[in-house]
This record gives sequence, structure tokens and C-alpha cells, in this order.
Amino acid sequence: MECRTLILGAGAAGLYAAARTGPDTLVLDHAKRPGEKIRISGGGRCNFTNTGTEAGNFLSANPHFAKSALARLTPWDFLAEVEAAGIAWHEKTLGQLFCDGSSRQIVEMLTGAAARAGAAIRMETGLGEVGHDGSRFTVETVRNGRAETIRARHLVVATGGKSIPRMGATGRGLEIARRFGLAVTETRPALVPFTFSGQPFAGLSGLSLPITARAAERGPAFPEAMLFTHRGLSGPALLQASNYWHEGEEIVLDLAGPGLGAALVAAKRQEGARALRTHLARHLPARLAEHLCEGIAGAGRPIADWPDAELATLADRLADWRLVPSGTEGYRTAEVMLGGVDTAGLSSKTMEAKAVPGLYFIGECVDVTGWLGGYNFQWAWASAAAAAAAI
Ligand code: FDA
Repeated sequence: MECRTLILGAGAAGLYAAARTGPDTLVLDHAKRPGEKIRISGGGRCNFTNTGTEAGNFLSANPHFAKSALARLTPWDFLAEVEAAGIAWHEKTLGQLFCDGSSRQIVEMLTGAAARAGAAIRMETGLGEVGHDGSRFTVETVRNGRAETIRARHLVVATGGKSIPRMGATGRGLEIARRFGLAVTETRPALVPFTFSGQPFAGLSGLSLPITARAAERGPAFPEAMLFTHRGLSGPALLQASNYWHEGEEIVLDLAGPGLGAALVAAKRQEGARALRTHLARHLPARLAEHLCEGIAGAGRPIADWPDAELATLADRLADWRLVPSGTEGYRTAEVMLGGVDTAGLSSKTMEAKAVPGLYFIGECVDVTGWLGGYNFQWAWASAAAAAAAI
């Protein structure tokens, strides 16, 4: 069989591209259903974009690469499509837009638009050898035990990243890039919970609180929620910091917020007979205060016994709590993959491989990784639109 445009991957980027490349487009995917990651995203409500999207919200070896595509398909453009599809939405926080109802509405919007544009989607199709016969790209496929070679003028690789292999995620896009001589940057699990040997926080599992987290060596600080888990630390603030963390390095948590030192000194004046641990439990969740006090000699003594300077030092320590995770939960639970097809080999305007006319890489398989908060979908839509406009 032959078609004009062959898209590998019926996820966010592949479906969005298909609606724009239109007739004579075929989308192939080995999963049972299209858009599975969209379906499970945002706790089932899909955080489909972020109104504050800018290139600074993404990690890439080339921090400028995403600018062109993001400028040409903005969050407002995607939102207009969501509204035109009659999907009710709300802003949760920090510019993050979610469906009011279900993320399935976004999948239906995308598959509906692809069908209306005349694109066909073939699921449960295994991908074999990918090549080029001199005039067309060729992809060996197997479906229902039947082998078929599909030839196409344009090949769009939208197979995503390696996160959550049990959902069908593979590094296939990276292999295809290498097959055509493109470089691939180092890949790592990202937006991923931290683990600690000895499970020191198991007793706090389930506890959540607002903090500020950052990777000690690089990246910004993220003032969001933290969640203690049986195996370690999670929650938005920690997932964000994980994008910037490397094995063996520290993470830094500010548990105190501004003014804890002054508040403890004021508490000492007003209720000096009460123990330090009692006062700490007024500023932090009681279970956490108890956990921290196990490491503070004299926490059970009246706060009046504590010199002001030591209270200030204690507050400073809680504002700069340094931990070395033993690792992360890995691709098993990571929301995204960091790294991917090296952008040096791609046009930032069209996502086309500079050395291989007709070959495009879009979405998460490209070395552009967003923060938590709808940025990764916005990159999927924007990179797909950029490629489709060139096809
Ligand atoms: P995507 O993973 O969507 O699609 C790739 C497709 O290729 C899949 O359908 C897969 O089956 C197919 N495929 C892979 N290998 C193949 C092979 N070898 N043969 C055939 N087909 C193959 N982002 C965000 O902005 N807001 C959010 O709310 C969330 N929430 C979220 C929750 C969870 C649990 C996860 C895991 C991830 C998120 N994300 C997110 C991230 C977001 O889901 C992700 O960045 C996009 O889906 C990437 O879109 P792509 O189209 O590039 O890949």
C-alpha cells in the first residue's frame, strides 16, 4: 500500500498532525486504542495546555529550538479548538487548563478531527523495518498476523518517549532516528518521583504539604506541593525538580517558608513554657514535625530554653533541607522522557530532518521536554502543527 503521509504513533502529536495533513494520511500504532496517555493524563481530566507556555518551560540541549513552533501554535489556538469542540474546561492553577469532564473528550476531539480530514488510523499494528527505497519511505507492518509494506512520501515519527512501558511506550522513534543517521541525546526518566534507600519516609506516606523544591546543582525552584510516598518523595514540586536532578546529587527542600525563624522567636516570647516540638507542629503537619524532631536534640525542651540565634539557625536548616535520593522510580512511573532526537539535526520550523527530506520527528521523541503543567501536550500540538504545515 502507498500513501502520501505515514504517521507512526497515534498519541497526542500523531493524532494532531493527522488532522492537519488530512487525506491520504495513514496513522499506525501498536496499541489497542489511540491517545492512551491523553486518556490517563491529568488524573483523567487532561491538563491539555498551559497559558503561560514559553520556551523557558522546556529542557533541551538547544533551549531556543522550541520557540518557533510554540510561537506558531499557541495555547490560545489549541484552546479555541477545545471550545469549538464544546469541551468545558477550567484553569486549575498556574495557567494549567483541564477538561471539566473527561480527558476522553480530547481523544475524541483529535480522532474526530483526523477522521473528518480524511486520515485513517490503524491500531494494533506492529512496526518492523523502516527504510527508504530511493523514492519512498518504507515501513514493514504486521496486523492480525498479516505482513504488509507501506510506502509513503512523508514519514512522521510520533512514537513518544519511553515512559510507562506497560502502556506500550518504546524507544522506537530514537531507533528510527539513528537508522537515518540522526543523533540522539542522552535519555532519562523525568517528572518522576524520588526514591530513598531504607525508605526513611515510609511513616509519612500519604502526607502532602506546600513546599519549594529544587535540584541543588541546576534549575529553578518550584513552589508547589510535595507528597511523601512509601518509597520516597513525589508531588508536583518534586516531579519538577526531578527534571534537573542527576544521580548522586542533592535536592533542596524549603519546608519553612518565609518567616519561620521570626515566628518561633515570637512564640518563645508568648508561650515559652511549651516545647519546641509543639510550636513546630503549628507550622508543619504534626506527623512531619514529629519526624523532624527525632533529629533535633532538645526538641522536647521548652522553647524558652532555646537562644534566639539557635531558633533562627533551625529555621534556616528547615528552609534548606538537603537530601540525596538514591534514585527515581524510573520509566515505570515517569510522566515523560528527558532527551531524545537531537534537535541539531532537525529544522525548528518544520521538524524535518535536515539531512533526510520528508522525514519528521514530533512530540516527546524529540529532545524537548516540558515542565509539569500542560507544557508537554502543548509541545506535542505545536511540533505536530509545525510538521503538518510543511507537509
Ligand atoms: P504519546 O506517548 O502520546 O504517543 C506515542 C504513541 O506511539 C502511542 O500511542 C504508542 O502506543 C505509540 N508507539 C510507541 N512505540 C510504538 C511502536 N514501537 N510501534 C507502534 N506504535 C508505537 N502532559 C501534559 O502536558 N499534561 C498532562 O496532564 C500530562 N499528564 C500525564 C500523565 C501521565 C501518567 C503520563 C505518563 C504523561 C502525562 N503527560 C502529560 C505527558 C504527555 O502524556 C506526553 O508528553 C505526550 O503524550 C507526548 O505525546 P506524543 O504523541 O509524543 O507521545
